[in-house]
Amino acid sequence: MLDDTKPAARPANPRFSSGPCAKPPAWTLDKLRDAPLGRSHRAAVGKERLLKAIEDTREILGIPADYRIGIVPASDTGAVEMAMWSMLGQRPVEMVAWESFGAGWVTDAVKQLKLDARVHEAPYGQIVDMNALDYDRDVVFTWNGTTSGVRMPDGQAIPADRDGLTICDATSAAFAMDLPWDKLDVTTFSWQKVLGGEAAHGMLILSPRAVERLESYTPDRPLPKIFRLTKGGKLIEGIFKGETINTPSMLCVEDYLLALDWARSVGGLKGLIARADANAGAVADFVAAHDWIENLAEDPATRSTTSVCLKFTDARITDGAAFAKAVAKRLEGEGVALDVGAYRDAPAGLRIWCGSTVETSDIQAMLPWLDWAFNAEIDAQRG
Ligand SMILES: Cc1ncc(COP(=O)(O)O)c(C=O)c1O
Repeated sequence: MLDDTKPAARPANPRFSSGPCAKPPAWTLDKLRDAPLGRSHRAAVGKERLLKAIEDTREILGIPADYRIGIVPASDTGAVEMAMWSMLGQRPVEMVAWESFGAGWVTDAVKQLKLDARVHEAPYGQIVDMNALDYDRDVVFTWNGTTSGVRMPDGQAIPADRDGLTICDATSAAFAMDLPWDKLDVTTFSWQKVLGGEAAHGMLILSPRAVERLESYTPDRPLPKIFRLTKGGKLIEGIFKGETINTPSMLCVEDYLLALDWARSVGGLKGLIARADANAGAVADFVAAHDWIENLAEDPATRSTTSVCLKFTDARITDGAAFAKAVAKRLEGEGVALDVGAYRDAPAGLRIWCGSTVETSDIQAMLPWLDWAFNAEIDAQRG
């Protein structure tokens, strides 16, 4: 039987996962055919590609010339933990979390590293008051909370004349949001997020003050080889020129370079930010027009433009978690929205990735399906 309540159009690309995220439009595997596969990453051709990945990142993100950019193992997690294990302990630390990834860094600091840490947490949907922190301590925080859809509105709370270091997990922000480099001493992200690259490699961006910390402080703890950024008290500069600590995937490097080329073709950082803004704007318009759904982020100034988290508010819903799961399942079943269920630790709802590789036309084609799935599930619940 034909269901005439179903929308006529479907998104061309139904991939709205918050990581790994949609590949850039027009991406094909064939475009990676010239990757230097089966060659050493230490051969001239490999080194050239790795250095290009670093310098293209610098150019597109507008990272200052005196900041180091390194490609490190183990995706964003590797980059964050490498910084925490290598730099923290010299002074007390402010640990900041408003969703599960930030909470993971709190666990690292408190339970694993056993640091002198003050923990600042906010519930899902809210943000910690960043003005209340002591920036003469080190501060570890997440720019965009991927699992709550709450982000830093800007870096104004971070003083220019701080004595501590700011360590910022920016994995679901970099390339889609403005990042104030002068306020960030350590910044990390993974290729798998806003540019739709592959996971497993992390980017570690260090300010001169972060380098100074590495060269002046040696923590009293064992560091595995893949965390070691210094040798004999000096920074291993090669890491920041593409001489990676261990073997990277040259296929993933080529894929990242392709994504960076695409980024340039849409107008660089400005264009990338505009695309995410337009996507999140389309979802915001939908939410404003429907009284059964709301943004999880309470303060509009903190609403993410990448990982947009939504909650159902209809009084007829009896079991919120089951309802949200069922809506996500319907969307997936129709092949119109994949991987849009809320993160496992987050409040029940949906999470729609609106990052720069997603086409606004796909968001717009998907939203009527959300309306359909919601109504179908309300009907199903009535029995
Ligand atoms: C804010 C944040 N931090 C860390 C991670 C972990 O990233 P990865 O799996 O690339 O290490 C994620 C992944 O979604 C994230 O959203």
